[in-house]
Amino acid sequence: MKFFADTSNIDDIKDLDGLGLLDGVTTNPSIIAKSGREFIPLIEEICKIVTGPVSAEVAATDYETMIKEGEKLAGLADNIAVKVPLTEAGLRVCKALSDNGTMVNVTLCFTSGQALLAAKAGATFISPFVGRLDDLCQSGMELIEDIVGIYDNYGFETEVLVASVRNPMHIIDSARIGADVVTCPPSVIKQLYNHPLTDKGLAAFVEDWKKTGQSIL
Ligand code: E4P
Repeated sequence: MKFFADTSNIDDIKDLDGLGLLDGVTTNPSIIAKSGREFIPLIEEICKIVTGPVSAEVAATDYETMIKEGEKLAGLADNIAVKVPLTEAGLRVCKALSDNGTMVNVTLCFTSGQALLAAKAGATFISPFVGRLDDLCQSGMELIEDIVGIYDNYGFETEVLVASVRNPMHIIDSARIGADVVTCPPSVIKQLYNHPLTDKGLAAFVEDWKKTGQSIL
C-alpha cells in the first residue's frame, strides 16, 4: 500500500521522505490556504522533493477554466496529478486530461456510483473521503470496500486513494481491504509507530544491557 502525505508542509514532507515512507503528496485548496504560501511555487518545490505523484487541485468549477488550470498545473512537473472535483464538468476534464496522458485525481467522492463514473472517465486516482463520511455516521470504510470490489469486478486501473484519513485504524482497515493508497496527515502516519509495550520493552532491554557492562562497538 502506498502512503501519500496529505499536507503542503515542506518540513513534514522532507521528514517522511527521509524515512522512506513517502510515495506521494496530496494537497487541496484548504491545505494551500493554511500554508500561507503562493500555490504554484509551493507545488513546484514539493515536486522537486518527492518523486511520486503530487496532487494539485484546480480552483475553478466550470469546464473551460478547469481544463486551462489543469493543463497549466500538469506542465509544472512530470509527477503532477491534477485534482478535479467529482462533478460532471470535473469528470469531463478528467477524461480530456487522462486521454492526453496526464495523471488525474478525482476528489470529493462519497459514493460508489461516483467512483464508478471516475474510473470510466479514466481517473488515475479516486479519492473517497472516509473521515467526512464517518463524521455523518456513515461508514467510510464500507465505501472503500464497495469501491475496491467494484473496481476488481471490471479490472479498472484507477487506484483507490483513501482520503480524509483521521486515525491509524483508517490506515489499517484500508490495508485489510486492499486499497491502493492512503493519504494522511503526517501525524497519523507517525502514530503507526506507537505502542506502549514497544516503549516498555525497549526500556527494559536498555537497562539489562547496561548490566552486562559490554559494548558492541
Ligand atoms: C485529500 O486528497 C483530501 O483533500 C483530504 O484528505 C481531505 O481531508 P479532510 O476531510 O481532513 O479535510
